[in-house]
This record gives sequence, C-alpha cells and structure tokens, in this order.
Amino acid sequence: MVLKKLFLIFIYVINLIFNIHTQDYNVRDFGAIGDGITDDTNSIRAALQAAANSNGGRVIFDSGYIFFTGCFQIYNNTILDVQGTILGSNSSDHYGFPGINSTFFNTMAWQSLIFGSNLANVTITGGGVIDGQGANWWPCFSDPSLPPCSNKTRPRLIELNVIKDLVIHNVTLQNSPMYNIALNFCDTAHIYDIKIFNPPSCWSTCPPLASHNTDGVNMYVASNVLIENSHISTGI
Ligand SMILES: *[C@@H]1O[C@H](CO)[C@@H](O)[C@H](O)[C@H]1NC(C)=O
Ligand SMILES: *[C@@H]1O[C@H](CO)[C@@H](O)[C@H](O)[C@H]1NC(C)=O
Ligand SMILES: *[C@@H]1O[C@H](CO)[C@@H](O)[C@H](O)[C@H]1NC(C)=O
Ligand SMILES: *[C@@H]1O[C@H](CO)[C@@H](O)[C@H](O)[C@H]1NC(C)=O
Ligand SMILES: *[C@@H]1O[C@H](CO)[C@@H](O)[C@H](O)[C@H]1NC(C)=O
Ligand SMILES: *[C@@H]1O[C@H](CO)[C@@H](O)[C@H](O)[C@H]1NC(C)=O
Repeated sequence: MVLKKLFLIFIYVINLIFNIHTQDYNVRDFGAIGDGITDDTNSIRAALQAAANSNGGRVIFDSGYIFFTGCFQIYNNTILDVQGTILGSNSSDHYGFPGINSTFFNTMAWQSLIFGSNLANVTITGGGVIDGQGANWWPCFSDPSLPPCSNKTRPRLIELNVIKDLVIHNVTLQNSPMYNIALNFCDTAHIYDIKIFNPPSCWSTCPPLASHNTDGVNMYVASNVLIENSHISTGI
C-alpha cells in the first residue's frame, strides 16, 4: 500500500511538472474535419509534429467529432487529448509509414494505428474513443492471406516501444484489429479508468463479428506498471 501510494504521488508529480509546459495543438486548427469520412491523417500528423517541434504539448481531438485516420506517430512529452473519436481506417493503404511499416517484433506487419518509439512522458486521455474498425482485419486470423492483411500481421491499436513515464486514463479503446495496447520495453506506466471493448471470440463456431487476438494490454519487458480500475473485454 505504501509503495503504491508513493508510486501514485510520483506519477502525480511527473504530470504536474509536465503540464506546466503544455501548449495546445487542436487537430482542427491543422485542417482536420472530423466528419468520420474525410481522411484526417495528414492534419493529425501535422499537429503531432508541431507539438514535437516545441518539445511537446497537448494534441486535442474535440468532442462531438469523428476523426477518420490512418496510422500516426506520437513523440516525446505529448498529451493525446481524445475528447471525441479517433476512427482508424480499416484499409491497409493507411498502415504503411515512410521507412517503418512494422511492429516491434514483426517487420512483416502493418504499422500500428498510434505508434511511437524511444520516448518519454506520454499521456493518452480525454474521455473519448479510439476505434480501430477491426472487423475488416479479424478474418485474417484464420486466413492471413486475406486483404487487408495480405500476409502481413495486423496493426495494433496503440504500440509504444522503449517508453518511459506513460499514463493512459479515461479513454475507451474498441474494435482493435489486434492488441489494443502493446508496450515493449516500458518503464513506469499508470493505466487507469479506461475501457477496452472488443467483440467476444470463440473456439469453434464463431459469431460473424468474433474478434481475435484483441488483447487488452500486451507487455514485453516492462517494469513499474500499474493497471487499475478498468474494464477490459477481449477476443482470444
Ligand atoms: C511503407 O509503406 C508505404 C505505403 O505503402 C510505402 O510507400 C513505403 O515504401 C513502405 N516502406 C518500407 C520501408 O517498406
Ligand atoms: C525523445 O527524447 C529522447 C531524449 O531526449 C531522445 O533520445 C529521443 O530521440 C526522443 N524521441 C523521439 C521520438 O523524438
Ligand atoms: C520527461 O519529463 C521530465 C520531467 O519534466 C523531464 O525531466 C524529462 O527531460 C522529460 N523527458 C524527455 C525525453 O523529454
Ligand atoms: C473523463 O473525461 C471527461 C471529458 O474530459 C471528463 O468530463 C470526465 O470527468 C473525465 N473522467 C475522469 C474519471 O477523469
Ligand atoms: C470499413 O471502413 C469503412 C469506412 O470507415 C466503413 O464504412 C466499413 O463499414 C468498414 N468495414 C468493415 C468491415 O469494418
Ligand atoms: C500470401 O501467401 C500465400 C502463401 O505463401 C501466397 O500463395 C499468396 O499469393 C500470398 N498473398 C499475397 C497477397 O501476398
């Protein structure tokens, strides 16, 4: 209990120091439309890049909007303030990324929707929704050659590699093509008050919308991680 309290105070202080330097970057100011149809990928990437250029900031996705997007990278000292909905494209056209096109373990994988490597001080929050439209990808579980997979592994919803001081709270993740949150080489993370919804899976007779490998939080080499007060429903 004492350790847990100390840990929470530690996280709180980190957030406090971090927030003082925060500037706002609203994706709509970078041209995002948020109608659920227009491709907002470039606007979102531009907002994140602008935040990164000033060593971090709060990137805001307004409530009441649906931001349709392909994959995008997250940088140091970023708060992803998801008040509305981020709707991931379900087309493989949106999951290449110049020079990357892979997950941490599998170069033959589509890039994860939200990804980042070698970074610190990231918060994902806002009360909104990140939806991966996984239904198009789940049938690849039984036949990887099917599009959109076409023999490449499915993208994760959020994949952060070599990450320090991460907070994910008050956000709903749903319909991920694969793992919802993948953390590889993670030091110090607090994940709380989140919801993860994916359709249930099956062993033999499957409902039409069975999700597969939609793990909640999948960690590889992680320390000081606290996950609490969350609802996580996944498919096998
Ligand atoms: C990544 O994917 C994009 C879009 O499909 C492609 O243009 C690019 O050449 C790919 N890069 C690598 C390193 O495979
Ligand atoms: C984050 O900051 C660290 C330390 O300054 C630096 O080494 C790293 O390249 C940065 N990562 C990104 C994604 O900019
Ligand atoms: C993360 O935040 C801490 C506290 O503000 C700061 O000391 C550190 O330099 C930051 N890390 C990076 C990579 O910017
Ligand atoms: C979650 O975010 C919403 C929108 O910003 C806010 O109204 C609500 O109080 C937050 N809930 C928690 C538990 O932080
Ligand atoms: C794929 O995405 C499109 C555009 O968002 C949507 O209309 C369609 O229903 C999706 N299909 C599946 C199977 O997820
Ligand atoms: C996927 O792999 C199978 C077996 O190697 C091959 O027959 C098929 O042509 C490949 N499909 C694509 C889209 O690459």
